[in-house]
Amino acid sequence: MLTLGLETSCDETSASVTDGRKVLSNIVSSSVHLHKRYGGVVPEIASRFHVEYIIEVLSRSLKDSRKSLKDIRLIAVTNGPGLVGALLTGISLAKSIGYSLDKPFIGVNHILAHLYSSFLNEDDKPDFPFIGLVVSGGHTALFYCEAIGIQRLLGSTQDDAVGEAYDKVAKILGLGYPGGPVIDQRAKRGHRNAAISFPKSYLGKDSLDFSFSGVKTAVLYYVNNLRNAKYERRTTGLRQAVINDICYAFQEAALDVLVEKVIRASEFTKSKRVVIGGGVAANSRLRERMVELAVNSAMKIHFPELKYCMDNAAMIGYLGEALYKKGARSDLYLSAEPNLEVVNVK
Ligand code: KG4
Ligand code: ZN
Repeated sequence: MLTLGLETSCDETSASVTDGRKVLSNIVSSSVHLHKRYGGVVPEIASRFHVEYIIEVLSRSLKDSRKSLKDIRLIAVTNGPGLVGALLTGISLAKSIGYSLDKPFIGVNHILAHLYSSFLNEDDKPDFPFIGLVVSGGHTALFYCEAIGIQRLLGSTQDDAVGEAYDKVAKILGLGYPGGPVIDQRAKRGHRNAAISFPKSYLGKDSLDFSFSGVKTAVLYYVNNLRNAKYERRTTGLRQAVINDICYAFQEAALDVLVEKVIRASEFTKSKRVVIGGGVAANSRLRERMVELAVNSAMKIHFPELKYCMDNAAMIGYLGEALYKKGARSDLYLSAEPNLEVVNVK
């Protein structure tokens, strides 16, 4: 069965062809370069970019897979959460192809698609049940998953998502957007510095929820104090070595929390399998820390391949097809749901 996947929830325009087990094509065109100067995604610019490029991205993904629209059996499209104007482009295209060629289409929850993106790995697909950790720019959440599409929310962020904290800290430090990849690199050049330490919020000893706004604000105060002191001494700018040490301390604080919450979720669910997804799953230090955890606690940890960490249509096609095979359906009333939540399914 061939599935066309479409993803336009934020700043990546993506189309894919998957066949349930294999990714035949996965084209991603990002508008990130247009947002850089604003320090974050500008919804109107992202929406216009999708309209301009979606047809070209679709054509390239069909060409790469050596298939045509008539070979496609199902269209899977992200219908939330995300930016409403951005989501509408993918949904309108999915409906147009579905209606005009008489093919079924299905709306897919973007967070769940990240959660199950490790299933795109050619070998080493996760076994159920497992603890799912989604760490992206918009979401940070823990799930208990018993089968594809059968999952229960264990905890989620009460304020900023972890990727959002990376992006905001990078902005405070003048490192540009997106913040995750640059902080990942800068932290490698930084060191543990006794003078720089940021708070970690665990929200009580049993909580499986997250909070990252405190660590971000602590970085802001620390940097403001440094800048004020420099101003009084009539020098300007932060030394690169100090910026690297701040990146190191921020990253360790954020990752300590993620690791601790995975340990708690494992104790709570009695599961030793963990599956991670979302843009922050590309982080090299998170991967190192999870390998350490796996060794120390006899856990099995799965990461998506790097190309499936960030937003992509292949993960939408994969989950859409799996849910369709289980009987899920959408119709022409499918709408863009900017705040779409994950429903607990037993
Ligand atoms: O999953 P994604 O592409 O979009 C959302 O659904 O939000 O994630 C984007 C987020 C951004 O916040 C970006 O800074 C973060 O993922 N990110 C990283 C890394 N690469 C991307 N964060 C930490 N380390 C990275 N290497
Ligand atoms: Zn995403």
